[in-house]
Amino acid sequence: MNFINGALAIALLVLCNAAWSQSAPAGDAADGKRAYLADGCFICHGRAGQGGAMNYPAPPLAQMGYSAEVLKTILRAGLNDMPAYAEAVLSDKDVADIHAYLRVLPGRRDAKDIPLLNQ
Ligand code: HEC
Repeated sequence: MNFINGALAIALLVLCNAAWSQSAPAGDAADGKRAYLADGCFICHGRAGQGGAMNYPAPPLAQMGYSAEVLKTILRAGLNDMPAYAEAVLSDKDVADIHAYLRVLPGRRDAKDIPLLNQ
């Protein structure tokens, strides 16, 4: 049920998504990495944005297709088991930076691409 609610909420967000306005702060991936680690996104979504577990799976975020505006709406509102992040905790600039960082995260890798597993 949570998944269905989450999927519906996201579908609505995507449908209602306004273009990321010109006045929005530009994202910086290096600062986004700092915010992603400092604000604890990695705890549930993984250091490579590969996804992880909370009370149920937390989705992968690497190379996420959402615009920065949709990401901000999700973060400000929270989503089921994911907490909401108020602007006092996570600024608009942090959100834009995290958005830029998620675009460059590698995400899941095949076991054959992990050298340690192929010795
Ligand atoms: C306590 C664990 C937890 C933390 C910390 C957390 N998330 Fe989440 N996040 C989740 C879970 C669980 C979901 C799935 C919610 C659902 O659909 O029911 C989710 C969903 C999302 C989604 C929607 C993805 C999709 O495709 O459905 C985005 C985007 C997201 N999180 C980004 C972030 C960012 C950025 C941070 C750090 C600022 C963060 N999350 C911190 C647990 C967490």
